[in-house]
Amino acid sequence: MRPSRRKFLKAATTASAGFAFSRKFSPLAAAQSGGATVEILLDEPVGIVSPNIYSHFIENLSGVIYDGIWVGDESKVPNVKGIRKELVDEMRKINPALVRFPGGCFADSYDWRDGVGPIERRPRRTNFWASGEKPSTPAAHRYDPNRFGTNEFMQFCNLIGGKPYLAANLRSLPAEQFYQWVEYCNSPAGSTTLADERAATGFAQPFNVQYWGVGNESWGCGGNFTAQEYAVEFRRFTTWVPSYGSELSFVASGPNEDSWEWTRGFFEEIVRKGKHQLRNIFGWALHHYAWNLSRGKTRDWIKGKGDALQFDAVDWYELLRDGDLMESYINGHWQIMGEFDADHHVKLVVDEWGPWYRPGSELTPENQLEQTPTQRDAVFSAMTLDTFNRHPEKVAVSCCAQLINCLNSLYLAHEDRFCVTPVGHVFAMYAPHQGGESVRAAFSAPEIHYERDGKAASFWGMKGSASLRDKKLFLTAVNPDVSRPLELQIVIRGGKAKSAQARVLAASDIHAHNTFAQRNEVAPRSASAQVRQEAVYFMFPPGSVTALAIELA
Ligand code: AHR
Repeated sequence: MRPSRRKFLKAATTASAGFAFSRKFSPLAAAQSGGATVEILLDEPVGIVSPNIYSHFIENLSGVIYDGIWVGDESKVPNVKGIRKELVDEMRKINPALVRFPGGCFADSYDWRDGVGPIERRPRRTNFWASGEKPSTPAAHRYDPNRFGTNEFMQFCNLIGGKPYLAANLRSLPAEQFYQWVEYCNSPAGSTTLADERAATGFAQPFNVQYWGVGNESWGCGGNFTAQEYAVEFRRFTTWVPSYGSELSFVASGPNEDSWEWTRGFFEEIVRKGKHQLRNIFGWALHHYAWNLSRGKTRDWIKGKGDALQFDAVDWYELLRDGDLMESYINGHWQIMGEFDADHHVKLVVDEWGPWYRPGSELTPENQLEQTPTQRDAVFSAMTLDTFNRHPEKVAVSCCAQLINCLNSLYLAHEDRFCVTPVGHVFAMYAPHQGGESVRAAFSAPEIHYERDGKAASFWGMKGSASLRDKKLFLTAVNPDVSRPLELQIVIRGGKAKSAQARVLAASDIHAHNTFAQRNEVAPRSASAQVRQEAVYFMFPPGSVTALAIELA
């Protein structure tokens, strides 16, 4: 659950915090192009873009699991072992990395034992989210039938080619249960009773789960701890966890947005027992939802939200402005972490991000927290992925919230209907960044000026990210301007462009979105970019996302 409190930061001053212009960047080039310029500095690598930045989040929440993913093997909906086939087919196209499950807030009320063993004998439990469900909601959304448990989740990961990232319950189960879940997943065939239990349901070989979240939003729904209290619990939960030969990477429940005191309090307490304690932490989870479209009028969690489909140009920029705070959160928390962890052993794991609107745009009205993503959310998601790509040394994992039938979903589905949203298309377009070397890309573009309730406001003109693999340069960028196309000149320092191909996601209406009936209202198209005197030129349509694959000489 989100807290009602929320501190605003001034976007304009923080959006580019931590970004230093390279000495090789020449703003003159921007002026000469008459539009925007990006200088790509091939000899200024920043780090490898972890494929895990392209990870996902599925929670046992309303229509996400039951209907979205799990339809059951007796369903008329085409499925593979009970899992929606169309989803599997689409996900295989985007090269998914990790999948976080089972929550979210749900995780801290979940007993993993309920979801293992013969399916017909599994108990029915009240779902954490039951109180938010409507009377018309399918019973499975309120009373969890536990049909989709650990084995089924592993099967889902296998089918889509991803890896599991399990979120363990720290609020309502003892540490012993956490150890036993690790044992169930990772103990070798024939070794323990839990390995035998796993084998008895058809999974003799261990799942070798590496990534384990230890609690979720422990400052709120995950136990309402203080940072110090949580650090003590985290230390206890993660000390001497049997590993069964698998590497275990523990992710601690980190801050909401700009909760600097949560980061400082946790690390202060952890290192009170010595810096070596940091070795037990792989990641520090950061959550950021963009939700306040009240233009500064309220910070109320309910009243401050806007609509997913009905919005004007100012709402478009306001949402991007809120989302763009991500970069300042990354830089700010990283700096605090560095005060305790000078060599930055612990990385950031942004395992929940996306826009969060008020109810009303659900394609399936019964689905709590479902919203219909538009072109605005495509630009938002692309901008956010570019931010992660620009900080590969800091951000080790990111999970978009959530995969299907929920907030910033890549897919929407109900019974036998399915569609890929504009956000899903962005993930397909951005996939080639995975594993590439992020290189410095210095953008220079005229600012966008608009009027916000009678006062002048502005937003940056263009941003993106670049990565290199062999002789292939991959550049992604967004033009956030709702009405103006922008020509970008791409200057490559340390290399020469031979050819360039573009994929563009644009729409004539900023509200454009896909539905079950109109599945391809928003879809990427291919375009060629011009190469002149070793530079690349491309015209970015208004409010668009572009991926350019540039072949170097
Ligand atoms: O994604 C929905 C919810 O948002 C998650 O369960 C929780 O972690 C966050 O507050």
